Amino acid sequence: MNHAAKPPSASATSMTEYVLPTHANAMGNVFGGQILAWMDLCAAMCAQRHCGTIAVTAGIDDLSFEHPVKVGQFVRLEGRVTAAFRSSVEVEVRVSGEDGSTGTIWPCVRAYLTFVAIGPVGAPAVVPPLLAEGPEDEARRADAEARRRHRLESRARSAAPG
Ligand SMILES: CC(C)(COP(=O)(O)OP(=O)(O)OC[C@H]1O[C@@H](n2cnc3c(N)ncnc32)[C@H](O)[C@@H]1OP(=O)(O)O)[C@@H](O)C(=O)NCCC(=O)NCCS
Repeated sequence: MNHAAKPPSASATSMTEYVLPTHANAMGNVFGGQILAWMDLCAAMCAQRHCGTIAVTAGIDDLSFEHPVKVGQFVRLEGRVTAAFRSSVEVEVRVSGEDGSTGTIWPCVRAYLTFVAIGPVGAPAVVPPLLAEGPEDEARRADAEARRRHRLESRARSAAPG
């Protein structure tokens, strides 16, 4: 694995999906679980590009859907690594809906996913550092570190007896 620091732009990942009837519920809105699957894929590609090895989903923070996307519209996904830790990275995925006929774009959901890099023997592997390219990247990393502290505290509370 190459351990040279990489900027977020080196692993940023964009995807666009066309919503078909098989993706939708009886109201013609895409299923939340389908959007989650696309988010997981987008984040996995982003994490693999950064880590230089396969990475598995360790956790997904809370998410809530703001506005629906309907059959015939597009789902746009933008993934970026916000922080690299020891063997894990946090990936932010922003999802929007797009009406391809009018060009209208609206926010659908945003979430933070944690991926763990897996080395050749199947164990967590050290990931390359994230190289901030400017103050916005620094701010995203500071926010990611605060979320990680919160996650670690929450996992420690769940693991505690009683
Ligand atoms: C994720 C996984 C590899 C972690 O393995 P582990 O033996 O707990 O490894 P460690 O305790 O050494 O933790 C490794 C890293 O994972 C992170 N991690 C583990 N569980 C996590 C969770 N639930 N949420 C966020 N991060 C988590 C740790 O914080 C640590 O990060 P760091 O090295 O950057 O500090 C393991 O739990 C696993 O394989 N889970 C299943 C993953 C999977 O199959 N995903 C697909 C969906 S089922």
